[in-house]
Amino acid sequence: MKISVLGVGTTKFGELWEVSPRALVKEAVSEALSDANLKLSDIEALYVGNMLSGILGKQENLGALFAEELGIDIPAFKVEGACASGGLAVHNAINSILAGVYRTVLVVGVEKMTDHNPGEVVSALMGAGHDEERLAGMTFPGLYAMLARSYIEKYKTKKEDLAAVAVKNHYHATLNSKAQFQHKVSLEQVLNSPLVADPLGLLDCSPISDGASAIIIAKVNPPAGGQKATRRKNVYITASTVATDTLSLAGRKDLTSLTSAVKAAGKAYKMAGIEPGNIDVAEVHDCFSIAEIIACEDLSFFPKGKAASEIAKGKTTLGQGRPVVNPSGGLKACGHPVGATGVKQIAEIATQLRGEAGLRQVKGAKVGLTHNVGGSGAVAAIHILKNE
Ligand code: COA
Repeated sequence: MKISVLGVGTTKFGELWEVSPRALVKEAVSEALSDANLKLSDIEALYVGNMLSGILGKQENLGALFAEELGIDIPAFKVEGACASGGLAVHNAINSILAGVYRTVLVVGVEKMTDHNPGEVVSALMGAGHDEERLAGMTFPGLYAMLARSYIEKYKTKKEDLAAVAVKNHYHATLNSKAQFQHKVSLEQVLNSPLVADPLGLLDCSPISDGASAIIIAKVNPPAGGQKATRRKNVYITASTVATDTLSLAGRKDLTSLTSAVKAAGKAYKMAGIEPGNIDVAEVHDCFSIAEIIACEDLSFFPKGKAASEIAKGKTTLGQGRPVVNPSGGLKACGHPVGATGVKQIAEIATQLRGEAGLRQVKGAKVGLTHNVGGSGAVAAIHILKNE
């Protein structure tokens, strides 16, 4: 499989009270079009990744809404898969190209969360969980706290090693002008942050965020308009996979791994014809510190039970080891506007593989991976990208 990434665009992530979802989408799309040197008339279909617009914004019909807003009369689709909505939208867009239906497709991920009170948002996010979990009063920090407890119990992991994930990702975010939190945090600050769901403190959690990201993808040769003459490297998606698991944690045999991610990653490595050791840079779904540790093992970057201590030693920190994980700051510090995240991960990896990531550039990066998870692992989407 070889799908060109022609252009990418991402708004700033954060509390963007003064900006509407329409304006966010327009900004991300306009940046992606200019990056690709394309016009809206070159786009043949639109896929929108979004989770919460219906329950929070009372507007579900985002495909047609954004097509109208952008002024393009083309087929348009909304794709929902909880926090993996963006990754699933990209997967569907790729399949439409592979099926020969469209040649040049725009994928947008968008979410507007901070206009609503946190209780409303936390409750809306639980729409991604199992009914029994929701009715029992569980929240996503609570569900991931259960994963953290199982992991700590099984591997005797120190809370300091969990906290090190947040320290690293906040550091990376200081190098990203679009990140929600562009400040460092210390190990002590993470360990002493107010407890949200034991053992996860406030600084172990990704925030509630607004933002949008857009990518333009096409069948390799010919792109409808042509990439910028100055572009140093072309970037291709060489694998796109999705796998599912039970919605409820109660249905799982093991709470120290997400089976959906393991299955999707295995298929993706095979599809791309590469090994985990070939990955130079990855954007993984660190909705909570424990989630990045589990992701690094599910993706076979480290053996089971070893990721926490390896991350704490700096093995995934920019300038210190390989693969560099979450150079954007990840969900933790770049922010997590849920429907936008999976698209932004691909935009970030494409930027890295072109060598255009500025201060946070992973030197010489050739192969990158994105890992986007919905719910507490009910669905996972993996993409592998490489440059040429
Ligand atoms: N990381 C770092 N700082 C954070 C933060 C986070 N995750 N969340 C909030 N803050 C900061 C705010 O900027 C604010 O700082 P300020 O006082 O300097 O302005 C302060 O902490 C308090 O923010 P507030 O909005 O009152 O926090 P909150 O208690 O309402 O919410 C969480 C904090 C962690 C509970 C909330 O962000 C949350 O629920 N996160 C998880 C979201 C989620 O489940 N996503 C889906 C994942 S599957």
